[in-house]
Amino acid sequence: MIMVAMLLVMMAVIVVTGIMGALHPASNVELIDPTTLHLQGEFVESNLGTATEPDGSVTVRLIATQYDFVPHCVDVPVGAPVKFRLTSADVVHGFLLPDTNVNTMVVPGFVAEVRTRFAKQAEYAMPCNEFCGLGHQGMWARVRVVPQEQFAGRTLFERRTCATQ
Ligand code: CUA
Repeated sequence: MIMVAMLLVMMAVIVVTGIMGALHPASNVELIDPTTLHLQGEFVESNLGTATEPDGSVTVRLIATQYDFVPHCVDVPVGAPVKFRLTSADVVHGFLLPDTNVNTMVVPGFVAEVRTRFAKQAEYAMPCNEFCGLGHQGMWARVRVVPQEQFAGRTLFERRTCATQ
């Protein structure tokens, strides 16, 4: 009887965690309406790109859409804590910075959040790594890691376009 009870409990745990895991993205459950991204809230156009926080960290907001990331290039400072917040306007995309811990799915209806810190100056190509349609292989953007002083001297527009000064 005890053995059967233990078996049942373990099977129940497997079934419940399996269903819960399938219903929700694992890391960060934040809901958002993908049809009104451009109209209201955190992901309106003027709020996209790299924003500085009072504590010295930066937050990068991006929209993934067929077939580009908006904005297409962002600057972030070396050494500071960086928080990427992404969402999708249409289908499931992927967000990957090669050779870093940044790798997440971007699912419409949810906000994906990844935290990292870049140790050195670099320029990353960020390819979409979820098949999202015929233009998938051409969907990529860039993250430029620039020195703190250079970052501080750049305007919001320059930070979200990587425009050279
Ligand atoms: Cu977006 Cu593949």
